[in-house]
Amino acid sequence: MTTLPASMFATILKHDGYSGTMTGPVIENAADWLTEAELPIPEPGPGQVLIRLRTASVNPSDLHFIKGEYGQPRVQGTPAGFEGCGDVVAAGKGAEALQDLRVAFVAAGSGAWAEYVVTQMQMCIPLRPDISDDDGAAQIINPLTAMAMVDMAKEDGDAFVISAATSQLGKLMCSLGRDLGLKPIALVRRTETVETLKQLGAAEVLVTTDADVVQKFADISATLKPRVFLDAVMDQLSEQLFCAMPNRARWVCYGKLGSDAPTLTQTGQLIFMGKRIEGFWLTQWMMSTPPADQMRVVTEVQARFADGRWKTDVSERLTLRNLMPNLAAALKKSDGKVIITP
Ligand SMILES: NC(=O)c1ccc[n+]([C@@H]2O[C@H](COP(=O)([O-])OP(=O)(O)OC[C@H]3O[C@@H](n4cnc5c(N)ncnc54)[C@H](OP(=O)(O)O)[C@@H]3O)[C@@H](O)[C@H]2O)c1
Repeated sequence: MTTLPASMFATILKHDGYSGTMTGPVIENAADWLTEAELPIPEPGPGQVLIRLRTASVNPSDLHFIKGEYGQPRVQGTPAGFEGCGDVVAAGKGAEALQDLRVAFVAAGSGAWAEYVVTQMQMCIPLRPDISDDDGAAQIINPLTAMAMVDMAKEDGDAFVISAATSQLGKLMCSLGRDLGLKPIALVRRTETVETLKQLGAAEVLVTTDADVVQKFADISATLKPRVFLDAVMDQLSEQLFCAMPNRARWVCYGKLGSDAPTLTQTGQLIFMGKRIEGFWLTQWMMSTPPADQMRVVTEVQARFADGRWKTDVSERLTLRNLMPNLAAALKKSDGKVIITP
């Protein structure tokens, strides 16, 4: 039986509900949205576990959420952070099977940017010993999304388009696509990342700041005929590229890294070319995918991290106690996740 302290250090939400804005996953000062607190250790209810944090990651969804721009409302005073890795130190009724295991988790109830976290047992994945704590902190949200979306893309031909391809998720999808014999077409903002994406398996890499990018994309599109555009940017360029795709193309919007709202310029394509615009949200996928299929995906995800086909790039390490003053600056670094430790 683990002896627990009376209280825990946590980084908590400063505001309630939704903000009504859509300014994107960027912050200038963490203190606008978060504050530090000493809170009682949460108690796991039936079907829940209490986890002692090892590592938590910072995802764009965390930033949308703390700003009130995500698909669920904020609860003021509760810890922030959706995803992490830690040890189960107490289990509620029905969740005893997870007692003492190291798990990757998605926080549902109290957030991951705290010394202790309560979540549902269904939101926990016991980790193989050969998965590192860094990989454990980013084991669920991006990897499951990558598996689900590439699976969707491969139903529609062998080429598909990935925007923000230098994101952690973009890199996972690129190498997974290559491993499955597909042809990922990667869009990046920075020329110096082209080679990295090619090495990760992109069949083509286009730089979005290139003045000819739409024409170059149209030429590639005419040859490779991608029918799925997995888009995390959703700006006007995304719309132009979608317009350059062949008939029956699907613009699958799953993130909003771009700050501008795109205007639809060729609505006739939706009618006469059978094109579609749709969304993807992992939460929805988890609710609609049978548990046995999810388990197969989880097993494959862990195998890919264990044998090095996938890895979590780390751009900066912060502790819970130095998170607030350093988070905004840490997020300005490209190529990797900010990892938080207690
Ligand atoms: N719908 C879902 O279920 C779901 C699940 C998981 C993730 N997501 C979304 O997937 C996206 C990627 O997540 P992640 O965790 O992989 O992100 P990440 O590793 O934190 O990377 C984000 C990267 O995107 C690039 N970027 C940022 N702003 C951009 C812009 N305006 N235009 C183009 N590129 C931009 C930056 O790379 P450079 O500096 O190299 O350009 C940045 O490093 C996010 O939008 C996230 O919300 C959605």
